[in-house]
Amino acid sequence: MPNCLICADPIAPFIDFGPMPLGNGFLRPDQFAEEYRFPMQVGFCNGCGMVQLLAQPERERMFHENYAFFSGTSRYMALHFQRFAEQVNAGYLSAAEPFVVEMGSNDGILLQNFAAAGIRHLGIEPSKNVAQVAIDKGIATVTEFFGAELARRIVAERGQADAFLAANVMCHIPYLHSIVEGIKILLKPAGVVLFEDPYLGDVIEKTSYDQIYDEHTFLFSVASVGHLFGRYGMEIIDVQPQTTHGGSMRYVIAHCGARPVSPRVQDQREKEHALGLHRPETYDRFRRNCEESRRQLMTLLTGLKAQGKRVVGYGATSKSTTITNYCGITPDLVEFISDTTPIKQGKFSPGAHIPVRPYDEFAGRHPDYALLFAWNHAAEILEKEKAFGAGGGKWIVYVPRVAVLDGEE
Ligand code: SAH
Ligand code: TYD
Repeated sequence: MPNCLICADPIAPFIDFGPMPLGNGFLRPDQFAEEYRFPMQVGFCNGCGMVQLLAQPERERMFHENYAFFSGTSRYMALHFQRFAEQVNAGYLSAAEPFVVEMGSNDGILLQNFAAAGIRHLGIEPSKNVAQVAIDKGIATVTEFFGAELARRIVAERGQADAFLAANVMCHIPYLHSIVEGIKILLKPAGVVLFEDPYLGDVIEKTSYDQIYDEHTFLFSVASVGHLFGRYGMEIIDVQPQTTHGGSMRYVIAHCGARPVSPRVQDQREKEHALGLHRPETYDRFRRNCEESRRQLMTLLTGLKAQGKRVVGYGATSKSTTITNYCGITPDLVEFISDTTPIKQGKFSPGAHIPVRPYDEFAGRHPDYALLFAWNHAAEILEKEKAFGAGGGKWIVYVPRVAVLDGEE
């Protein structure tokens, strides 16, 4: 039996998604035969409460010079990170000349706000193509993987940090012990860590199982994050739910005793208890909900095909790789996936091999139905796609449940 990546207790899977390609592994037809897959099973650790993948691809397969995810493709996310930076600035940076470090800084979507305010900063971003976009914007960036060894080097060369930030990356990292050890070394005695990731509570409540893919090694909760950092003499001092990525949690962490703890931390722990996040039965129910969601989505898509309707995917998200492969969605059910990211266009979706086409092909000839793979950006997308609904187009969503929305909703 595999062991928990955090506390080493043995863990059994509660769901098996089968052999899964990489969520961001968009590929060309000449690569189909050699396509990589890994066994995607998820387990819950009874010992420390951590929900995790039981096997992970090596990190260099996922994060490299052709990484397909550019944070800046969403206007809404740019605003979200601007507000995040404002919160850090106003609430946590009291030192005279503060130093802010971000892990997984990608194209600089968050750090650009600190750079603009003249605040000393450092991005750590191993995927060289996305890091280059940040470097071109004048954002100081190291193109390496963060860990304890790099933390020591940063302290030696630039000193300790007042704030350590991370968005949608902490949960990507199987070797979390090295990360938290590095944070412990890097952070000043009164420094703070603020990081956010998709929240386990939302995934369970909304059956948003597409948050599970190769890059998402963990689904965090206040209980599991508190346990992890507790092992290193650090504690959660605040939690702030976010609407991003379909429901995320921002955790604020400090060295134990260094800062006051908000009552929100205990409140959220109690909510998790009420939701049953500590009980194995909760995860069995989640599996049954995933199976039912799959059944309903496939019934809908095969029914539309039988009626001769055109269905196109909207947003070639990494999340959608789990949906298309687990459900068995093939190009005869979904004609193509529209996406604005140049590096994905002209390629095919991982595993299911649905063509990814530029947005103009969606806008130029609206389908009957659009399957909203980028459902986490629904507000932004439905707002800008009013013409689709006005012309009779309908949206298919599957979170929190499979439904057809009138395009004008
Ligand atoms: N923070 C951005 C990007 C999230 S994608 C946002 O929220 O939109 C995750 C990023 O983390 C990728 O760009 C990946 O290259 C990077 N990453 C993965 N492992 C890392 C590590 N060990 N140290 C630093 N960055 C890492
Ligand atoms: P996102 O949901 O942010 O991430 P993940 O890959 O982590 O699941 O990805 C959104 C994708 O959708 C990205 O490839 C860009 C694309 N997209 C569009 O094509 N049009 C849009 O209007 C938006 C907001 C995103």
